[in-house]
Amino acid sequence: MIWLIIGRRQRGKTTLATYMTRKSPQRVIFDPRGMIGSTGPRALRVETTRDLIDKAMPALADHEIDEVVYAPHDDDLTRPFTVLAGELKTWVSTYPTRPLGVLIDELSFIEQSRRDPPVMRRVLRSCEPAVFDVFITCHRPADIPTNTRSVADYWILFHCTQEHDLEVVKERCGSRAATMVQGLTGRSFIVWDDAQGKMTAYPDTPDPTTGRNTWYVELRGTITPSRGSVKPLADLSGIAQNSVDTGKLFQ
Ligand SMILES: Nc1ncnc2c1ncn2[C@@H]1O[C@H](COP(=O)(O)OP(=O)(O)OP(=O)(O)O)[C@@H](O)[C@H]1O
Ligand SMILES: [Mg+2]
Repeated sequence: MIWLIIGRRQRGKTTLATYMTRKSPQRVIFDPRGMIGSTGPRALRVETTRDLIDKAMPALADHEIDEVVYAPHDDDLTRPFTVLAGELKTWVSTYPTRPLGVLIDELSFIEQSRRDPPVMRRVLRSCEPAVFDVFITCHRPADIPTNTRSVADYWILFHCTQEHDLEVVKERCGSRAATMVQGLTGRSFIVWDDAQGKMTAYPDTPDPTTGRNTWYVELRGTITPSRGSVKPLADLSGIAQNSVDTGKLFQ
């Protein structure tokens, strides 16, 4: 499945995307802002394309690790992104039925005309939706190329007010969704299920003691194991009900 996670700054997009990605038994995280730490023994953080190709992806394929965090420092992210897409293409063709969660954080860090290379287009169109989940975060719908928007299965929308953004939301998710996103507060969001044409609202319900929602994960701390340690989410179960692979993402 392809998930877009869109909204204004500091709403929790990266946190929610990380939470969801870590529901997959194995993950690849593209982290151009250096937001996501992974210090557990089953995770490997790499910063160069060479390490990604020679160390991280082979270790993931061999089950030596469960998570790759690729955090390139390059000013121009075109090559790192395209190389990553090439690795994903190889994965998809070599292991078409093997579950993988992919997080692309802040797509807008990649130059506009380079966000949709043919190799990534191929990955998004040829991956098996039941086992391969791609989560893409960004601030505005327009940050995401039309080709990518057109293959997205779910739109997760936080607060959004700009006229052009609302137009895009309205066009794809309907006028009710466009009206709702303008009124969202805090960390509340809606999920648009494109296949079913269905919208589900998720209110901001932080724990009164910790101030955290149930989908909170510590981004910079030690890695959260993929299953078991994250509390099952009663208030996100709607996504699971709409998903083909409910068992994998939200249990
Ligand atoms: N569910 C949550 N409950 C409580 N705090 C949260 C939750 N999710 C995120 N936060 C906190 O909110 C802040 C912003 O989170 P995050 O970086 O995920 O947001 P973002 O929308 O990706 O931000 P940006 O627009 O800068 O990319 C962080 O300090 C994070 O710890
Ligand atoms: Mg973010």
